[in-house]
Parts: sequence; C-alpha cells; structure tokens
Amino acid sequence: MAKGVRVTTEVRQIGIVGSGIMGSGVAEVAAKAGYTVVLRSRTDAGANDMIAGLEKSLIKQVEKGKLEDTERNAVLERVRAVTDLGELAACDLVLESIVEDLDAKKQLFRDLDRHCGDTAILATNTSTLPVVEMAMDTGRPDRVCGIHFFNPATVMPLVEVVRAITTSDETIAAARDFATACGKTVVDVRDQAGFIVNALLFPYLNNAVKLLDAGVASRDDIDAAMKGGCNFPMGPLELLDLVGLDTSLAILDALYAEFRDPNYAPAPLLRRMVSAERLGRKAGVGFYDYHRK
Ligand SMILES: NC(=O)c1ccc[n+]([C@@H]2O[C@H](COP(=O)([O-])OP(=O)(O)OC[C@H]3O[C@@H](n4cnc5c(N)ncnc54)[C@H](O)[C@@H]3O)[C@@H](O)[C@H]2O)c1
Repeated sequence: MAKGVRVTTEVRQIGIVGSGIMGSGVAEVAAKAGYTVVLRSRTDAGANDMIAGLEKSLIKQVEKGKLEDTERNAVLERVRAVTDLGELAACDLVLESIVEDLDAKKQLFRDLDRHCGDTAILATNTSTLPVVEMAMDTGRPDRVCGIHFFNPATVMPLVEVVRAITTSDETIAAARDFATACGKTVVDVRDQAGFIVNALLFPYLNNAVKLLDAGVASRDDIDAAMKGGCNFPMGPLELLDLVGLDTSLAILDALYAEFRDPNYAPAPLLRRMVSAERLGRKAGVGFYDYHRK
C-alpha cells in the first residue's frame, strides 16, 4: 500500500442493539444522517415501542418546523426494528447500547461476533466499562471500539471515540467518520474507565448525593446552587435522574473498581435508591417525581 493511503471501511448500514434511552436516541440520529438502521430489541414490545417513540419524536420536529414531512417519512423508511440478532448480519457497524453490565455486554459481543459479517465493526456505547474485555471476547479485537454518545443523543453534540489497546487505525477512522456524519464533534480517548467526560463528571455528581445525604442542603437548593453559581443548564440531581440512577451507579462502580479512588465510591444513598427502583426519569421517580410534573 502507498504511504499515507488510508484503508477505509464503508459504513452504510448500522445495527443498534438495546431499546433503552440511548439505543433509541442513537437510532434516530443515525437514520436522520442517512444511514439504514436495524434496531434490535429483545422483545416485540420493545421493538414496537422504539418505532412508536421514533415516530413521535419526528412528528414533534415536523410540528416545530424543524423537519419536512417528506423527510420524516424518508427517515422512518430507513429504520427497521427486529428481535433476532441474525438480522444484523448485513450491518457494516453495530453499536450496542444495552445495560451497563460487563457480563451482559461480553455475552452480547460473543453473539454479535457469530452473527455479523467478518468485516463488520462492533462498537459499544459503554460509559465506563473496559472496551478491551468486550473486544477480546470476539475473533476480531482489532475491529472493536467505543463510540460513546451522550444523553439525549439527538441533542448532545459530543461523541467520544474510544481506542482499546487492540483497536486498529482503520476501525477508529470508520468510527470517527460515522460520528462526524451524524453531525457530532469527535474526541479521541484511550480505553480507561470514564474516558474523559465521566471521569471528570461523576465525582461531582456523586458528591452532590453525599451532600444531600448529609443534610447540608436540600435537593432543590443543591440543584439551584449549581445552575445559578456555575451556570450549568441542569443541577447534579436533575442530571442523575436524566442519566438513570442504575446507569450512574454502574458507572461509579466501574470507576471505583479501576482507580480505588474514594471520590468514585458510590454514595450509599444512590445505591439505596437503585434498590428501591427509583431510577430517575425513565422510572417516573428518582430524586424528583415525574408523575407530578
Ligand atoms: N443514560 C445515559 O445518560 C447514557 C449516556 C451515554 C451512554 N450510556 C450507555 O448506554 C448504555 C445503555 O444505557 P441506557 O441509558 O440506554 O439504559 P436503559 O436502562 O435506558 O436501557 C438499557 C436497555 O438494555 C436492555 N437490556 C438489559 N439487559 C440486557 C441484556 N442482558 N441483553 C440485552 N439487552 C439488555 C434493556 O431492556 C434496555 O432496553 C449503557 O452502556 C450506558 O452506560 C448511557
């Protein structure tokens, strides 16, 4: 190969696995960017909900004058929801957004490796977990990387492209091209827990829960203080509710496991709230009650 020539992977068809907050958001972003999207949920109900959610989101954009009606139909036509992993066989890039649990993700990567074509790139949207462990469970560790979108994926401009120790330059280039085509700003980061954003953000969020638990200030005053005092668009407790308290706990557990830094040790109140299934917005209740809002 001539020096300086980059081998590129042409990515046209995207597979998204996981029908939660992030899977649905990334599917919408990719379809709007012109990619054909195959969305995989484990159940028919999950698959149907994802399509219904996408339709609702696109209708809202048409009503607000942000999207043409013809474009809405074109986006919908590019998306297909399935329950069988085998339907991802023709995808050039598959991005998983399932629960933040390493064993579940490793199992999924083993399954994807069997079902997907040899040249497909397998990517994870993990917030903190070691990408290399997922990569090493496949027969293509060079073609595995992290593509970390932020919540809500349709709004947040950043994507962290995560290079595991095994990831090839070609895979990183294809991941960067995909995120850029989705209209995102890309930053490169090594495979280390929390990458850039969550390594810096989560000690702050965790300490907000500790302040609340210690009775230093009320929920509303903690959030008001950080909005008014730091010009943040959301307070830390509102943000934890948006992220999901189960996902937040998993992120802190992974950060603590990697660094053993007490700042990452999850606040006991956070763990108790997850046990009580107060998971934030997606559950209707977290630090705030969304049934009343
Ligand atoms: N919530 C955020 O703010 C955020 C932001 C960026 C990245 N992420 C990452 O995206 C991923 C998904 O997070 P989310 O917020 O969408 O979570 P979520 O709870 O909204 O959705 C998780 C999905 O995973 C599915 N699931 C659970 N166990 C599974 C298994 N064993 N196999 C297959 N599917 C399974 C659930 O049914 C659900 O549809 C996580 O890795 C998380 O760290 C989350």
